[in-house]
Amino acid sequence: MPLESISADGSILRVPWGSFHAVWLRDNCPCSECRHESGQRLLDSVAIEDDLALASARAHDGSIVAVFTDGHESRFDADWLRARGAEPRRRRTLWDARIDLPIERFDEVAAGGEALRRWLAAVDELGFAILTGGPTEPGTVTRVAELFGFVRETNYGRLFDVRSVVNPANLAFTGLSLGPHSDNPYRDPTPTLQLLHCLASSAGGGENTLVDAFRVARDLDPESFALLAHYPLRFRYRDDETELEAERPVLSVDVCGELQGVHFNTRSAEPAPSLPREWYDAYRAFGRALVAPEYQIRFKLEPGDLFIVDNLRVLHGRTGYTDAGRRHLQGCYADRDGLRSRLAVLRRGAIDEIFRTFRERGAGAYLGEPVSIAEHSLQSAHAAERDGARVTLVAAALLHDYGHLIHELPEDSAEQGIDSRHEDVAHAFLARHFGPEVVEPIRLHVAAKRYLCAVDPFYVDELSSASILSLYLQGGPYNQREVKEFEASPHAEDAVRLRRYDDAAKVAGAVMPDFEHFRPALEAAVR
Ligand code: OGA
Ligand code: ZN
Ligand code: ZN
Repeated sequence: MPLESISADGSILRVPWGSFHAVWLRDNCPCSECRHESGQRLLDSVAIEDDLALASARAHDGSIVAVFTDGHESRFDADWLRARGAEPRRRRTLWDARIDLPIERFDEVAAGGEALRRWLAAVDELGFAILTGGPTEPGTVTRVAELFGFVRETNYGRLFDVRSVVNPANLAFTGLSLGPHSDNPYRDPTPTLQLLHCLASSAGGGENTLVDAFRVARDLDPESFALLAHYPLRFRYRDDETELEAERPVLSVDVCGELQGVHFNTRSAEPAPSLPREWYDAYRAFGRALVAPEYQIRFKLEPGDLFIVDNLRVLHGRTGYTDAGRRHLQGCYADRDGLRSRLAVLRRGAIDEIFRTFRERGAGAYLGEPVSIAEHSLQSAHAAERDGARVTLVAAALLHDYGHLIHELPEDSAEQGIDSRHEDVAHAFLARHFGPEVVEPIRLHVAAKRYLCAVDPFYVDELSSASILSLYLQGGPYNQREVKEFEASPHAEDAVRLRRYDDAAKVAGAVMPDFEHFRPALEAAVR
């Protein structure tokens, strides 16, 4: 492996994909003296020597071995180090009124598994999600929160009822409309998730509104954004037993100026008299945009329906309703950390299942090729990685022949003249876990062979004899019309690239990374 250099004073290690300073490397030594088997650090970071430097470093067998001036030797897995240098994939997608609503069926989500994962992934990516067709039993809302995390109890209780009452302490408990707002900005910390479940709905009005406040903030002019990020507001709630107060700006940003959270609630904000006039102009401009039809969505919850919002990003509200006494919602709070943890564990489980299948069934011969399916898959993914392909295409390369592991036909079906349609089998299974950037090139990888046979006169010569046998079972080279149809697919280009990796991945005895090497790519690509 190419290892570029250590700086003259030993303070920095440079590798082709980044640079790491000596103290960071020492701090992250993975040896059993420095890390417990639980993964927690044993080394006391504070005790690292002030003038620590690297005495030497060399590449060895997929690792980088570093010796420090304190005498300690560390061995870093190159893939691990490479992953530390990479930007983590950001899964947030900002939306406006044109969004397709992320809706799942209550029963499917409650059963756990993929529907739950899809639903949680929508909350993570879009900041909200809807459930339909649930029970109208009181308490359902906390059961839903418990599917992924922990209920955050507050002075309103473990859950609270939203309906009109006499002498309400909160406008939510009237039939009045509520503009877009974050709940409980007067709480410290503000709950990061809110769920609302419909037990009974009103005949007239009472629709819910949602708006992606991050999307709206992105369109603010820079001066307004800066004003809203600069001046704190005091939020306040009081009733007979409660006095809650917290101070924060409408837009909270991190040290890089990136938006982290929105607190917007005109009912409980107490703007200080010292707030300048320009702040008010910005505040009103933001508030007007939050209700603009190009940003806001509106839907009516039927009894049994529920929605969840990221309370620091997606603002919720409702239209007013008339038949007071009929409409009844129950709400509760929860937090994002629990949701993200559950989502990550569900994603990890999906990848574990795939790797287990490769281990249990991937050692078999691969249709007369000199490699097993597992080897062929690893070689394909390795070729994609070396080609600098996106993680989704690396994942597609690893998984493109997964259909051979899970279809029910005998291994020599091709010799018996049967096309296993393994690309469709793989697509049907993998679409439960991966998006179109992964599964469409897989579905098209046989089509790509028929396409290449039609457009590249030398391509057939490169195919193995097993691949030529299956080509005719699969329908042979495309005709002109089929070529055009194939080229029209938005995934045609990736499918052709995948096909090239596939064809080259039949080398007996090639040394390959193992499946775990590709876990980060799958983790980044899984839904
Ligand atoms: C709330 C709220 C919305 C509704 O209780 O926080 O915003 O639909 N209610 O009643
Ligand atoms: Zn609310
Ligand atoms: Zn293949």
